[in-house]
Order: sequence, then C-alpha cells, then structure tokens
Amino acid sequence: MDSKFNLLFKHSNNVQPFQMKRKPSPVVFNNGSPPRKRLALNINVNSNNFVSKNKLSIQEQRRKLPIFEKRNKLLELIRRHNTLIILGETGSGKTTQIPQYINSARLQNNGKIAITQPRRVAAISVAMRVAQEIGDSGGVGETVGYTVRFEDVTSPRTKIKYLTDGMLLREAMVDNLLMEYTFVILDEAHERTIHTDVLFGIVKQAQKARAEKKLRPLKILIMSATMDVDHFSEYFNNCQAVYLEGRTYPVNVYYTLTSHEDYQTACVATFFKIHRQAPWDHDVLIFLTGQEEIEAVAQQIRILSRDPDVSGPSVKVCPLYASQPTTQQITVFQPAPENTRKVVIATNVAETSITISGIRFVIDGGMVKARTYHPATGLDMLKVQRISQEQSWQRTGRAGRETEGYCYRIYTRAQYELLQKSTIPEIQRANLSTVVIQLLALGIHAANFDFMDKPPKDCVLAAFEQLKLLGAVESVESSSLTPLGKKMVQFPLDPRFSKIILSAQEYECLEEILTIVALLSGEAIFLNPSSKREQATTSRQKFLSPYGDHITLLNAFRVYRNLGSNSQRSWCHEHYINMRNISYAAQVRTQLLEVCQRLKLPVVSCGNDVEPIRKCLLTGLFMNVAELHKEKQYITLDKRQVVNIHPSSVIHGQQPKFVLFTEVVQTSKCYLRGLTTVESQWLYDIVPDYARSHIRLNKDL
Ligand code: CDP
Ligand code: MG
Repeated sequence: MDSKFNLLFKHSNNVQPFQMKRKPSPVVFNNGSPPRKRLALNINVNSNNFVSKNKLSIQEQRRKLPIFEKRNKLLELIRRHNTLIILGETGSGKTTQIPQYINSARLQNNGKIAITQPRRVAAISVAMRVAQEIGDSGGVGETVGYTVRFEDVTSPRTKIKYLTDGMLLREAMVDNLLMEYTFVILDEAHERTIHTDVLFGIVKQAQKARAEKKLRPLKILIMSATMDVDHFSEYFNNCQAVYLEGRTYPVNVYYTLTSHEDYQTACVATFFKIHRQAPWDHDVLIFLTGQEEIEAVAQQIRILSRDPDVSGPSVKVCPLYASQPTTQQITVFQPAPENTRKVVIATNVAETSITISGIRFVIDGGMVKARTYHPATGLDMLKVQRISQEQSWQRTGRAGRETEGYCYRIYTRAQYELLQKSTIPEIQRANLSTVVIQLLALGIHAANFDFMDKPPKDCVLAAFEQLKLLGAVESVESSSLTPLGKKMVQFPLDPRFSKIILSAQEYECLEEILTIVALLSGEAIFLNPSSKREQATTSRQKFLSPYGDHITLLNAFRVYRNLGSNSQRSWCHEHYINMRNISYAAQVRTQLLEVCQRLKLPVVSCGNDVEPIRKCLLTGLFMNVAELHKEKQYITLDKRQVVNIHPSSVIHGQQPKFVLFTEVVQTSKCYLRGLTTVESQWLYDIVPDYARSHIRLNKDL
C-alpha cells in the first residue's frame, strides 16, 4: 500500500499550478473494527438497484424506495395521530415521498404542507426533485415550491412547500398559528439547529391554540435519520414514534495509522488510492468543511486526474455546498457517463439531508465548520472543528446504502475515541440575539419559552444586553420590542446588521451600506488560490482602501455593478472574483432594498466620503471592536480577548488603533477578518455608556 502512495505523491508533486503545500506524507490506513452501533433502521433496498440505477424511470425509482411498501401504514398513522415522529435511514425517502403521499391522499384538505430543512441547498434540491417526480409542467414553483432566504419560488397553487427552518420561523412571526398549513413537517430534527429548536415550541403552541380555538387542526411530523426518540416524544406530549425498518449494507471502516493535520491533502491522496483500483462505477463521496476548501480540493483532483501518469477512468468532480447555484447542484445527482467516476466533494449537507446514488466509497475528513458563540469571550466564531462520533457514523453510512461499501476516515482510531458522542444543540452554543428578537416579535420573552432544551441563562441574558444596546428592547425583562426593534425584525438579518441598515438614514449612506451588508450575507467574493495569491492581490490593488476590507469590497462591487452583463464574467476572472458570490450579493441587495422601500427609508449615497459608512457600521457592530494592544496584537473591547489581524485583510501589516471586525476565525491563533478602521471618539458618540465602560486606551496594560 505504501509504495502505491509514494508513487502517487511523487506524481502529485509535479503538478502545477495547484501544487501541494508541502510534501504529503503517505496516508496509511488500518482496518477499523466494524461499526459498534449498527446503522440501524435499515432498508430493504433491492440490490439490483445499484447496477441498474441509470436506467430506471423516475416513477420506478420512487417505487423502489424502501418507504414505498410502508406507504399505506404510514398514511394510516398520520391520519390517526396529530403529532408523529418518523425515523428512517437517510435515503429511505422520507423527505421526498412523505409530502407526496399526504398530497395524493389529500390529507392536507385545502391547506399546505410545509417541510423544513436546516440548509438552503437541501430545500432547493429536494423541491426540484419532487417537482420532477410529480411531473408538473411548470416545474418547481407550481404544486411544489421552495422558500429560502432571499428566494421565494412558490405560487398560489403550491401545495408542498420546502423551506429552510429560518424561513418558517419568519412566517410564524407574521402568523403564529401558521394557518396556511395543515401539516408542518420538521425534517432533520436531529440537527437541532436553533431555528428548528424554536420551531418545535412554536408549532407545539400553534397546534394547541388551534385546537382550543376550534380552528382547523395542525398536524406535526418530526423526521430524522437518527435521534433520541424518548427525548423528542416526551417533549411532544409523549407522541407516537414510528421506525421505518430495513437493513443497510456493511461498510468497511478504515482509520489512518497516524494523524493528518493537512486532512485536505490526505483526502486527495486517499481518493487517488481508491481511483486507481476501484471499478469506474464506484463513486466516491468526500466530506470537507466549506466552499473554499471544497473548490480547492476539487481543482486538485481535476488536474491530477487529467495527468497522463495517473491510471484509472475519467473523473467527474461535483462540489456540493450551501451557497451553490441551483444549476450546479443538479449535476451532483446526475450519473456520470460510461467509464467515468463521479466524486462528490461535500459539506455535512451530504451527511443526512442529501442522498446521492452510486456512492461506494466515503472519505471522511473528520471536520465540520460550525458557528460557535462563546459567552465568556463574547465572540461568535466560525470554526472548523472535529465532528461528533454520531456524525462520523452517519458519514460512514453513506457508503452502504445500496450495497457493501468502504469508508476511509482521515483520523486515527484513538482520535475517533476522543470525539464527542453527539453534537451539542446549536441553541446551547450560539449567539441567541436573533432568536430572542424573533421571539419578542411574537410577544414571548425567551426565558418563558417552552424549549426542548433550555439555552444557558447567561447566553439569554447576553442576547438581551446586546439587544438593549442596539435599542431593540427597553430592558432585559421586556417581552416586547421598541419601535426600532419592530423595524429591525423586518430584515432577514442578524439584528446588528438590521440596525446598521436602519442607522444609514442618519448617516446618509444607505446606498453603500446595502451593498456592504449584502456582500457580508453571502460567501467571500475575493478568490485567493494559494498558487496565485500575488497575482490576485495585484489585480485587485485598485480597489484597496486604507480604511479596510469593507470599503475595499464596496469599491469592487461599485465597479462590477457598472459593467454590462457581457463583460462581468471576464472582469471577475481578471480580478480573481467569484462571479457566483458577487452576483448572489447583488440579488441579496435587491431584496434588502425592497424591505427598505417598504419601510420608506431614503436610499442616499455618501459618494466618495466613506467616513459616514464607517460610523454607520459601528452603530451595529460596536461590540465587535478591538484596540491595538502591543506590536501587532489586538484586544477586543467587549471581553478583552487577545486577537490578531488575519493575513488576508487589506490592513494586515498596518496598525490602526481601533478596528471593527465582522468575522473571527480560530486556527493556531484567534484571527479577525473583515476589518474597518474606526476611531474611539465615534464610539463615545454612538454608545457613550458602552464606550466609557469598555475603552481603556491601554492605560492599564
Ligand atoms: O429523506 P430521506 O433521507 O429519507 O430520503 P430522500 O431525500 O427522500 O431521498 C429519496 C431518494 O431520492 C434517494 O434515493 C435520493 O437519491 C433520491 N433523490 C434524488 O435522486 N435527487 C434529489 N434531488 C433528491 C433525492
Ligand atoms: Mg431527508
């Protein structure tokens, strides 16, 4: 095995321009013992399914799904119970089939069926699939539609509506009884996103209130591939749970013999180890953490696979992550042509939300990107961290759906043993200000809300303190919003950013603020491929602002917007700008503009004077300010945390006294990314009390 690896790496070192960062050491696996916890609830999948997958018609595929034979039994249970928990292995057909079964049995009467998904990419791709299965001539947006943030593809004829949990929560803010729906299906319940957790309480309350008021009943279905059924059932008044039984195929699990810090390179190496040996129709699924990483690995695999020295079939590389355009998502589901191996490189969205046929090999990088709030440091961080044991088995299970499979874990057995058993619910580790303000819009104080698992008290209090400083509530005891707070909840944004938009009127810079907030709502627009970092920086020199990254982004966007649609592509290419992400930002901007117009906010530009913009950003982000502490080191004002300026920032190397930041990343050190220089006097003007208690001007240091 070793010699094969060495061969591969010798080869990979010759490749330009996506050269590996360092000479990769061989990745050696040993055979792990089989899963202790069998991936239960397995399914009666016809094993011929795998071989003939490409030839089956879409209706035949539906009938082959394990859930199909349970259809009548399931419908009977759904009729009988107002709340039902449905457990079934990923890929068994829960998300795509159950709403259709309900719809064809007309159980929803004249109401609609809502199905929530924690991620937009899942909501969109599932809706498109189901529209295709139903065979509506108008496609998605007719009988089947979807609503995700900044995108609503539904019509008055829509009966089955897939939406992100965040969007259903927004709808609940308009009508807390959710009268539009006769069914609410909370899918992927095990993920325990904050929004799903809040929705549990909202739908439970709506069901009860509708019964009391003798309005049409609300049926609730809770679905997942894996969850603590007792905990859920207890919360939903001891409701019934049903298991879709069956079986999955065994998966051979391998662990690396040594740990690999550079798990991306190890994934590439492992892919080629598989590639040179496995038959062409054995597809591979690689789990990584986010767009940047996935695109980089995708590019490495594309280039290496075209090298004449690499043996094996052709390779079709399919990235899969949240902010992808819909057209690209579809290719993930299309089978590769004859003699071509498909490799899907995905975030944890492929763990349980999205199932792709034909996967025989899983390579598990062992990492996931998660947002984590630390009440002690006051920092809300996007951090790449280790997955839980539960996640690692879910990932493994993706290889054994249709027949026997293989899973290569890019971690050692000992590292696996150290993983957390299961993922901690987001509500117990995230910044709660968005949830708290949304509950307030419903007239509920978070401390009185019926949570399945209560968030820590100090997190709730911290969120209230923040909202008070932003002017959204009068006090931490309030159970209603101030007039400003009521305007803030109109925006589908973190309250800090809604506040910034609303302040722009005073600073006369809404035109610019809308752009900046839109750009911050999506993925990064500047590309920094490691091999061409210098060229990328040089090409973007003309956008650089001495005031930092946000103004630099604004400068780039201003140029982009004035280009004709014909020249946008080449301009993006020339300046190492991600075309998708910048055009997404343009769409988001349009949506935010609509909300502003509804609120009658004047859209005024501050022209070339950027000072109002910097002040305006501070009105929402005053808690995200750091002051220079000593040589290149900063300290956050809020909780006095030591931080550094990320090398990718345009002000890296300079040492402004005060900076405002929009992102914190933790690698070897704690870094700030997305910076604007600010002045301490502005803080005294904008939030005098906060400034007095937090600025120490290094006197005590
Ligand atoms: O929700 P659950 O994991 O139980 O399964 P599902 O998402 O309903 O998927 C059922 C089947 O539909 C799987 O075999 C998927 O591969 C297939 N599917 C697809 O081919 N294309 C999609 N966009 C979504 C699902
Ligand atoms: Mg599903």
